[in-house]
Amino acid sequence: MSGIARGLLGWIDARFPLSKMWREHLSEYYAPKNFNFWYFFGSLALLVLVIQILSGIFLTMHYKPDAELAFASVEHIMRDVNWGWLIRYMHSTGASFFFIVIYLHMFRALMYGSFKNPRELLWVFGMLIYVALMAEAFMGYLLPWGNMSYWGAQVIINLFNTIPYIGEAISEWIRGDFVISDATLNRFFSLHVIAVPLALLALVVGHILALHEVGSNNPDGVEIKKNKGADGIPVDSVPFHPYYTVKDIFGAVVFLGIFSVVVFFIPDMYGYFLEHANFDPASALNTPDHIAPIWYFTPFYTVLRAIPDPFGGFVGMSLAIIVLFFLPWIDRNPIKSIRYRSFLFKINLLIFAVTFFVLGYLGLNAVTPLYSQLALRFTELYFLFFIVLWTYSRSRGVVFWISSFVILLGIITLYDVFINTSERTELIWQTWSIPAAYLVITLLLPFLTRLGSEKEVPERLTS
Ligand code: HEM
Repeated sequence: MSGIARGLLGWIDARFPLSKMWREHLSEYYAPKNFNFWYFFGSLALLVLVIQILSGIFLTMHYKPDAELAFASVEHIMRDVNWGWLIRYMHSTGASFFFIVIYLHMFRALMYGSFKNPRELLWVFGMLIYVALMAEAFMGYLLPWGNMSYWGAQVIINLFNTIPYIGEAISEWIRGDFVISDATLNRFFSLHVIAVPLALLALVVGHILALHEVGSNNPDGVEIKKNKGADGIPVDSVPFHPYYTVKDIFGAVVFLGIFSVVVFFIPDMYGYFLEHANFDPASALNTPDHIAPIWYFTPFYTVLRAIPDPFGGFVGMSLAIIVLFFLPWIDRNPIKSIRYRSFLFKINLLIFAVTFFVLGYLGLNAVTPLYSQLALRFTELYFLFFIVLWTYSRSRGVVFWISSFVILLGIITLYDVFINTSERTELIWQTWSIPAAYLVITLLLPFLTRLGSEKEVPERLTS
């Protein structure tokens, strides 16, 4: 560093903790030395956040938050503004990539138990980010004022109508009108460009501060702080900078390559990232044939549709998100990493991932008798995952396994006998086998076989 630069840094450091922050959060932040592929997604989430904010700033320069002008202003951005098409496609593709990155980031936490003690608050910050991100994406989707924007918002806001007594007042309050209108567009614009991004940024700062307070978890799930050298530095660690800055830059370059291919060649992703109905302007008189939210919301949308009672569906959908907040208190097993957990835990997690995909797929498609029964079954699997995870929290006796099995399958069967409204009874019993098989595997195999046994966790990192 030259004399002038050193002098300038000294001047700044005397007034602002720049070098201190650099040391604490980068050059002297000691991270486990065994980070793998799954540890790319935190920094990638930061990268996508920056892409969204920057592209959003430029979009806002040309966009008009007015029901009469909004659709045409987006067309104007696409056709007339220099590089406008690129900025818009970066923003719309960025939204979908944000959710891809976040879902992988969250799945990593499930695999390695990164939400467990002492990282509960870090997880709760993450969940608040996730909810804020969903709100941000939902409101952003109304802004182009396309026909799916309009009808999608209509359906989702009308969900609040199902809340007894106060529901209609709440949806009117959200819309600012009796129907989706200019007032709705204006408030969604304001919330989308300023309020939610500010909250998101604050939450991300909280997330990183919480992470750096407790230290990163790792694929072995071993707390590196328990093995410190004479210098007080964890023996199984490396400084974040330069080791992981270089790794993350590599990840960012690969990511930007993939991102560019989509932005330049398939920005609508065959209707999954930009729905076809949204290329028509919003019209209260022209309902799209099939209203479906964008792909990242569809798992929860399926949960909503799986429960026939509208308010029940609303509660089910909300619970599907709320339950994730409580993961640190549901999975009490002291073993963090999937590497040392039982084979049945791995199966349970795999089934959960498949369930999430299937729920997403069902939500993209129109309801048929078969699909609505499948939606119910996979909703059952979604919630059963958390119950089974809780049962795996410690070793249990035979009586516990058998009684859990009987109680859970009993509740599902009683629902089918007394509440299931499908007219196709054969479908009810055929699909009943899905949760039944799941419960046999996850609750009966632990005591019938050795598949529930766990491995010993090493003292030090293994890789
Ligand atoms: C804007 C969104 C987000 C950003 C920018 C972000 C950023 C990060 C970064 C940079 C890390 C450290 C690097 C890494 O472990 O990959 C991290 C770790 C973590 N994040 Fe996030 N995150 C976001 C959303 C979420 C969400 C939605 C969740 C879960 C609900 C979550 C849960 C976690 C957990 C548990 C860790 C610790 C992982 C470990 O140490 O093994 N994050 N996050």
